[in-house]
Amino acid sequence: MTKARVIVTRRLPERVEAELGRRFDAQLSRDDQPLSAEQLQRALSDADGVLTTVTDRITAEVLAAYPLRTKIVANFGVGYDNIDVAAAKAHDIVVTNTPDVLTDCTADLAMMLILMTLRRVGEGERQLRAGQWSGWRPTHHMGHKVTGRTLGLVGLGRIGRAVATRARDGFAMRVLYHDPHGDHGDTLPGVEPRATLGALLAESDIVSLHCPSTPETRGLMNDARLRQMKPGSWLINTARGDIVDDDAMIEALRSGHLGGAGLDVFRGEPNFDRRYLDFENVTLLPHLGSATIETREAMGMRAVENLDAFFAGRRIPDRVV
Ligand code: DGY
Repeated sequence: MTKARVIVTRRLPERVEAELGRRFDAQLSRDDQPLSAEQLQRALSDADGVLTTVTDRITAEVLAAYPLRTKIVANFGVGYDNIDVAAAKAHDIVVTNTPDVLTDCTADLAMMLILMTLRRVGEGERQLRAGQWSGWRPTHHMGHKVTGRTLGLVGLGRIGRAVATRARDGFAMRVLYHDPHGDHGDTLPGVEPRATLGALLAESDIVSLHCPSTPETRGLMNDARLRQMKPGSWLINTARGDIVDDDAMIEALRSGHLGGAGLDVFRGEPNFDRRYLDFENVTLLPHLGSATIETREAMGMRAVENLDAFFAGRRIPDRVV
């Protein structure tokens, strides 16, 4: 039986690439460079399936390639805002993602950003590496206590819930949440819903974003919303960069209204607003939420299973459309 032809847009962990080679007629990425719109169109015309990542923008224009051979786009990532799913559906293309397997690591990283930002960890390490540490003293490099604070979660999906339990059980935090898509049904013991985002922002010492990027959430943290946050509070973003309005955030940092921020994601990655570099109280990471070998292998295997199920005519585990 001829194997389905699958084009893989980026390098993947070795074990995943080996599995793709066994199951499919796989064309792997050699140079690990993101594909241009034109290259993506060529892939969609040449392969039965394309394994994409969050760096591939599968827009309606890209999907207008003719003739389209691809029947499934298996995204390596839980977020799929890089794909125009309505256009994919209109072209009869199945889209899948990789939920669950990155929940723990992304939640761990959100907690790490909270700790790094409030305890001024990046700044401390920079000081030591620069040979500027003059020794222990009672007033040296004082940060802010994390344990016992009030954490406000914007979104209580898989990752939001994993952050909630870490904060509640590991750091004795009071945890509040608000779902910007209005889904307040499934609560967690000891985690309190807030009916409005404004109420959540006004009560939280730390606000952590755990919602997908959608037309409703793009630009959600704008000037008005940032003003609703408590003076001196912190904003953590491990979700998507475009949920935050960078101009408004920079102004909130400049004025001192925000005590700091921890950012793992940016609008237009890998570019980011260079003005963030001016702030020692902002922790900046290069989109590392799921970046552990265990998780990246599991994400890859999940994408392989989705492709395999599709081509074998079985139920597709992580079908989005
Ligand atoms: C995702 O899966 O959506 C992440 O942002 C990439 O790990």
